[in-house]
Amino acid sequence: MTRRILVTSALPYANGAIHLGHLVEYIQTDIWVRFQKMRGHECWYACADDTHGTPIMLRAEKEGITPEQLIARVWHEHKRDFDGFLIGFDHYGSTNSEETRDYARDIYARLKAAGLIEVRAIEQFYDPVKAMFLPDRFIKGECPKCHAKDQYGDACEVCGAAYQPTELIEPYSAVSGVAPVRKTSDHYFFRLSDPRCGAFLREWTQPPRVQEEAGNKLREWLEAGLTDWDISRDAPYFGFEIPDAPGKYFYVWLDAPIGYLGSFHSLAAREGLDFEAYWNAARAAAEGTEVYHFIGKDILYFHALFWPAMLRYAGYRTPSGVFCHGFLTVNGQKMSKSRGTFITAESYLRHLNPEWLRYYYAAKLGSSLEDIDLNLDDFVARVNSDLVGKYVNIASRSAGFIAKRYDGRLGDVPEADTPLPAMQAAAGTIATHYEAREYGKALREVMALADLANQYVDLHKPWEMAKQAGRERELHAVCTVALNAFRLLTLYLKPVLPRLANEVEAFLNVPPLAWQDAERLLTDHVIQPYRHLMTRVDPKAIEAMLGENRESLAPPPAPVRHGEHQQHAAAVETPSAPTPPTARAGLISIDDFARVDLRVARIVQAEQVEGADKLLRLTLDIGEETPRLVFAGIKSAYEPEELVGRLTVMVANLAPRKMKFGLSEGMVLAASDERGGPYLLAPDSGAQPGMRIK
Ligand code: MSP
Ligand code: ZN
Repeated sequence: MTRRILVTSALPYANGAIHLGHLVEYIQTDIWVRFQKMRGHECWYACADDTHGTPIMLRAEKEGITPEQLIARVWHEHKRDFDGFLIGFDHYGSTNSEETRDYARDIYARLKAAGLIEVRAIEQFYDPVKAMFLPDRFIKGECPKCHAKDQYGDACEVCGAAYQPTELIEPYSAVSGVAPVRKTSDHYFFRLSDPRCGAFLREWTQPPRVQEEAGNKLREWLEAGLTDWDISRDAPYFGFEIPDAPGKYFYVWLDAPIGYLGSFHSLAAREGLDFEAYWNAARAAAEGTEVYHFIGKDILYFHALFWPAMLRYAGYRTPSGVFCHGFLTVNGQKMSKSRGTFITAESYLRHLNPEWLRYYYAAKLGSSLEDIDLNLDDFVARVNSDLVGKYVNIASRSAGFIAKRYDGRLGDVPEADTPLPAMQAAAGTIATHYEAREYGKALREVMALADLANQYVDLHKPWEMAKQAGRERELHAVCTVALNAFRLLTLYLKPVLPRLANEVEAFLNVPPLAWQDAERLLTDHVIQPYRHLMTRVDPKAIEAMLGENRESLAPPPAPVRHGEHQQHAAAVETPSAPTPPTARAGLISIDDFARVDLRVARIVQAEQVEGADKLLRLTLDIGEETPRLVFAGIKSAYEPEELVGRLTVMVANLAPRKMKFGLSEGMVLAASDERGGPYLLAPDSGAQPGMRIK
């Protein structure tokens, strides 16, 4: 029976880069989707950027662009990163779409008709200068418990206490710095405290719809009692305005999961699919379509309580399953910017092969909510021994003989004494593991088969047969067996290593491998010449990647003095950053130098920064779609007006740095020492913004 399945991953926020933590989820989901497709099922993978809310609105403002411009830029960055990791979305949309808005309005109207929406006045902190209500994260102050300064409005990062923003001592707005005032306004609530919701959710949150562990957690929450959920925010807010409530917007978490519907709607329109068959409660039940959400454990509450209740009482189908995973640690610790283990997808891809990470994560992933650890030494060892040493090795040991001695043609497979029947018989077990998201178990099985195949080759020693006269037929058979073993392993690894599998399909000269192809073997068939399929991981590449992600580097050498100002400012922002080690005077190679992307930049705007005594805020055109904002410590030497229009030199690939005054997206170069400065560098006339300096 062909199943009809829709699969989603959580929608990443449109205000940050994709990092290796996110990728646990997207890789996990992608493997499952690819597996289902290989099984011959109709399986669709939809996702989108999560674009609304205060942080995105403020970040855009800080960058001097509109929220729409910000989310358009980030969409491309996210898409590029996901493509780089071979995440095969069938559609990647945005929650800021008409489709999502329509479904949000529809669901809201139906919840209202069901008597589940209520308006109540609530009092909140309000920033009188910015004229906006402040989310907890944008209120700071002294912790009421341990008296640490500058703690967020919801929890203290020093002592871990959780509290209400109103409990902070001397609260201030993180947006404008002024003391917030209390102000009352009407908010719209989804009445989750309604007995209907509790009763429905107690029933709904049972395994196997959720994992046992998640079910336990959810029952704890349900027993503590559901409170009504505040689904509105006051203007100014970047989001969808509530139809019958001018100046009120849907809270980002209301429309975020609705983005699943919006994205699937676009996909359905493109592919001619029947949207209702997947999402209308009655149709979905009648037709047996399935919907699964892959999520991280931090957003279980939204996906297994709020979301099904919204859907249920708006007449939509509820998900068939919510699959929750744990969090990524690197070398046993939380990802950390100072250790360089807060690794962006982009920087990983600059240094390493995406399929290595896909394999490593898969080898570690099971169906539980446990955290998964990326141990970098283990990563190198595992990829090199499993993928290169065991798997690819089988092909490289046998393909040459087929090409040289048999015109590239595979021969026959002997009836007895080969590992092939066992390898074919494993298809069912491996499929069961993939289906249950027990990828670690699936890959252990596959590697055990690779061991069998290697033992077979070791036993028959084709390289010796090749030197002995009269053993041509035997040699042909052994190499044919080995390449058939390689083909089966490729098939089983294909959900994890889709690109490599495509290369193997080209090499073996076969159409795309599907799961049922395990039932047959490849004999009397011409293959293509073998080219090396995968290299070993070089630990040096890992070091380079960590270096690139490490935020507190040694002070930069003399000509880039402004980095120091930036780092001082940043150090004030993040007092926990370790003291930078002192720089060693050393030689660098041309390659080291080439890693610094220096560009000609035109200063299109220069401004004073309120409260900063060394910095000017520069808007720089380096030929990109949106200009860069850079804080430069040159205030002592320049008036903003004299800078506008000038050309200078900028480091364009410096990791963006969060400073007290905003995000700095690069660095300009200037000279200085005790004799004076800073003197801004300038290119000779004729240079144009964006030109590379090398
Ligand atoms: N925008 C919300 C999701 C809305 S879904 C309707 C969000 N975005 S997120 O960018 O913060 O996270 C996206 C997904 O990545 C979430 O499922 C989250 O759990 C997962 N991860 C983010 N960081 C992670 C790790 N360090 N480790 C594993 N998964 C992580 O939440
Ligand atoms: Zn505290």
